[in-house]
Parts: sequence; structure tokens; C-alpha cells
Amino acid sequence: MTARITIKGLNKSFATPVLKQLALQVAPGSIHGLVGENGAGKSTLINIICGLLAADSASLTLDGRAYHPTSRTDSLAEGLALASQELSLIETLSIEENILLSSFPQNAVSIDRRAVRQQAKVLMEIVGLRNIPPQTQLAHLSLAEKQLVELAKALSMPADRIKLLILDEPTSALTSSQADQVHKIIKQRAKSGLSVIYVSHRLDDVLCVCDTVSVLRDGVIQLTAASNSLTSNDLIREMSGEELLQHSGDEPRETGDLRLGIEQLSSADFPEPISLQCHAREIIGIAGLAGAGRSELLHAIYGLAADRQGRVVLNRSGANVLIDSANTAAKNGMALIAEDRKSQGIFSGKSISFNTTVAGLGKLSGNLGAIIPKREQRVSEELISRLKVKCEGTLQSIDRLSGGNQQKVLIARWLQSESDVWLLDEPTRGVDAGSKFAIHEQLRKLRDQGATMIIVSSELEELTALCDRILVLSNKKAVAIFKRGQWSKEKLLAAAFSEHKGERALAG
Ligand SMILES: Nc1ncnc2c1ncn2[C@@H]1O[C@H](COP(=O)(O)OP(=O)(O)OP(=O)(O)O)[C@@H](O)[C@H]1O
Ligand SMILES: [Mg+2]
Repeated sequence: MTARITIKGLNKSFATPVLKQLALQVAPGSIHGLVGENGAGKSTLINIICGLLAADSASLTLDGRAYHPTSRTDSLAEGLALASQELSLIETLSIEENILLSSFPQNAVSIDRRAVRQQAKVLMEIVGLRNIPPQTQLAHLSLAEKQLVELAKALSMPADRIKLLILDEPTSALTSSQADQVHKIIKQRAKSGLSVIYVSHRLDDVLCVCDTVSVLRDGVIQLTAASNSLTSNDLIREMSGEELLQHSGDEPRETGDLRLGIEQLSSADFPEPISLQCHAREIIGIAGLAGAGRSELLHAIYGLAADRQGRVVLNRSGANVLIDSANTAAKNGMALIAEDRKSQGIFSGKSISFNTTVAGLGKLSGNLGAIIPKREQRVSEELISRLKVKCEGTLQSIDRLSGGNQQKVLIARWLQSESDVWLLDEPTRGVDAGSKFAIHEQLRKLRDQGATMIIVSSELEELTALCDRILVLSNKKAVAIFKRGQWSKEKLLAAAFSEHKGERALAG
């Protein structure tokens, strides 16, 4: 059978070679997983296939014919649908405009608004965005919702015209039930002959949804095999070239004194009051489905929410400070690591070094453009190496890093700030398995030194690996709290669904 796409002899260098004589083939109707560490070159390969980036040399065919796109217009005309890792959406446009941007239905002289809304609604229904009006401005959506809009946009091409659907980490911000919905769509489409390239760091998902998986390391495909012949440990070994270190399972541990007292806290976005006592040397996880209010709760704790009621009291060595605004929180050494690195974390156009040390700049004299002192530079370099950030040096611009490596720089920034109360929203989104392990080790170390952490994660495995207690939210209510040793995946999921009864069917 003629392959849908074949890639041969593909070379691409930036300052150093990224892809070397790479060869890959995807069959019609196949869901082909592509995995590799952060910075391995997955997005670069995808950008080349879609004509967004030029290869230094390559020979590509699509359904047996030579295919050499030089722009996204070329690849769209050939039926390549793409959902990008760093979302290709425009914040100031509405959902419907974003979805149909590249394929506005035209009547004789102008855009047919009614047709746009109708088509957008159908696509939104498919990806699971039922309850949001299509005319909502994109900027009002959560990261997970934006990710679903990106998918709807990719699917906006007429189904019979899409030959190859390319998904670059389409589920990194999604909860497991939202991801399941995405997987259902992909499987359905593949049955009717569509080919899919699926990139993800959620290796269990890759093995479950893909029929074939390829591993990219050192610029070449190291392995291509049927997914039912592989385990996630096989993939990690091929991705990193080494065995995965295993963290020995934690036993319940003693925590320290009360550090953060949350008393009857509520806000416009988290209306049901919640009380929680967080201790020194403690990591508390927050679990829940999409829309359960996890990020909203973090924002309320940090003083960032509208109509905030109740109290948050920070206690250090017996001295109490009332946290009544984000300003007081920041001044008193509380760190909030936001979920959406693109809009809330990265200083675009600045170096890795600047991006890692900026949290500590308050301690430096001079303006923000001041030269970063040698000590800061050294700390930054050490963290970059400990977290395995793949870069050419700390003076490289952060924009040049792969998505996962940008995330690691943000973590490095906070790791070297002097915070001892941390609110982390999806800290390892898009980070590969080996680096995730390194980040977890750093977080445990900070905890052992006395820090208090509250972590939101869509991956239950991440919470059960790290936390001393897990608070479960359901439909903007705190419904259960489990100590280490008391939880199971079933108990956590049952609690997460408890207040979302109508949506149970959706999760399948
Ligand atoms: N415009 C650029 N200029 C210089 N180097 C770049 C540029 N774009 C990417 N790179 C480098 O190419 C390498 C591959 O990056 P790419 O984004 O393809 O990785 P990835 O496999 O998608 O990683 P992730 O899992 O983090 O998304 C990285 O080392 C990155 O720093
Ligand atoms: Mg990438």
C-alpha cells in the first residue's frame, strides 16, 4: 500500500544539527505516535512537514507524489490539518472566528456569519465545548478550552479533504476525560482512512491511542514499532538512551507546623467557601475535572480573585501575615506558577538567563536591564543543567527553546527564588518523563527543606507521586481530602465526578 507520507534524508540544523538524515513513513488510516525528549525535534519536524519551516534538505512524498511545501498555504491545499503545540489562535478574536479563520464560508460578497456560527457550533460540539457561546472572545477561555479550540480549528477542513491530521501535544492541558474525548474523535476519523501523527509526552495515552509509535532521539528515528509490543518504560529508554530512575514509593510522612491557614475562602469564580490548613514540609495536591475550579482556587489563595471573601493567613515562626492581595502574597515570599506560560510566564525576546533570574531581580540594584551578577548566572546555569534544559547556553533567547524546555526555564526561575510557599498550576505540562522526574526531585527537596506547596495537576499519577494530601474539587466545591495511604485512583475519580453527575457519560 502506498504510504500517506514518506520522509527521507531530512536534515535540519539551527546552530547545531537537530534532524539528521531522518526517515519516517505513515500509512493511510494509521495513528502514528511520535515521542522524544524535550528538544528532540518533534515540533521542528512537524513544522517542516507543514511548510512552516524549510528543511536544509529532504525528500517528501504525499500519497506517492513528490511533496515540497514552502508555506502553510501549500500544506493546507494538500489536506494537512494541524493542531500546534503553541496554539495558533488569536486572543482578540472570538472562538468561531478562530476556528474558521482559514476557511471562512463565503457568500457572494462577504463572510456568511450565520454559516460561520453554524459550522463552529458543530465543531465545538465534536471537541466537547458545548457550553460556551461561539462568539466568546478567546482571551476569556482557560488553556484547556483554548487547546480544544485549536483542535476544532484543525478539524474545520472538510473531512473528506483532510489526508493527514497532525496533533502536537493536543492534550497537554486537558484532564483525562477531555483527553478521552479527543482520542475518540481521532480513532473515529482514522477508521475512515485519515492518517494521524500524534505527539505527546503522556506515554500511556500514546500507547493506547496509536497503532504505531516512533521514537526520535539524536536527530533520527531510533525505533518504530507496533504500540501493542511496547511499554512506556520501553519508550522512555529509547527516548533518553538510559533506564528511567524510579522514585521509591513514599510512605506517609510527618509534616511541620501550620504555614498557611485558609479560612472560609471564596471568590466570584470559587463561590463555595473552603478551609484548609497547609503545613511546612507538606505538598498538597488539587485534583478535579475540567471546570472543577482548580486554578480558580489557586488564584483566590494568592489574592488574585474578584470578590474574595474569607481569610488566608501566612504563618512563619509564629508571626502571622494576612494575605489580602497578590502584592502581599508576592512580598511575603509566596510564588504562583501560572498554567499558561505563553501569556503569563515567559519574557519573550529575553535570554534564558534573564528568564530564570527575573524572579529574584527585586533583590538586585539597578533597573531591569542591569547585567545579571555572576552569582545569579552561576545559579541559573546550575539549574539549567539539573533540569536538563536543552539549549546552547543561558544567553540564548528563550523563544528559541522547545515548548517543554521553556517550561523547565520557568520552573528554574521559581526554584531559585526564595519562596517557601508555592502554588503551582500544572508545573510539568509538556515536560518529558525524564525531566519530570528531575523536577519532582527538586520539589521534594524544597519540601524537605521546609516549603509548603499546593499543586494542581491533571495527571493523577503526578499527584499521587508527590503529594502528602490530595484535595478533590468537583464543580467548584471541595468534596474530599485524602492523606497518603488513603487514596486510590478509583476513590479520587469518584470524588472528582461526585458533583458533575450529568457529565458522567461524557467521561466514558
Ligand atoms: N528558531 C529556532 N532557532 C534555534 N533553535 C531552535 C529554533 N527552533 C527550535 N530550535 C531548537 O531545535 C531543537 C528542537 O526543538 P523542537 O521544538 O522541535 O523540540 P520538541 O521535540 O518539539 O520538544 P518539546 O517536547 O519540548 O516540544 C531544540 O533544541 C530547540 O532549541
Ligand atoms: Mg514540541
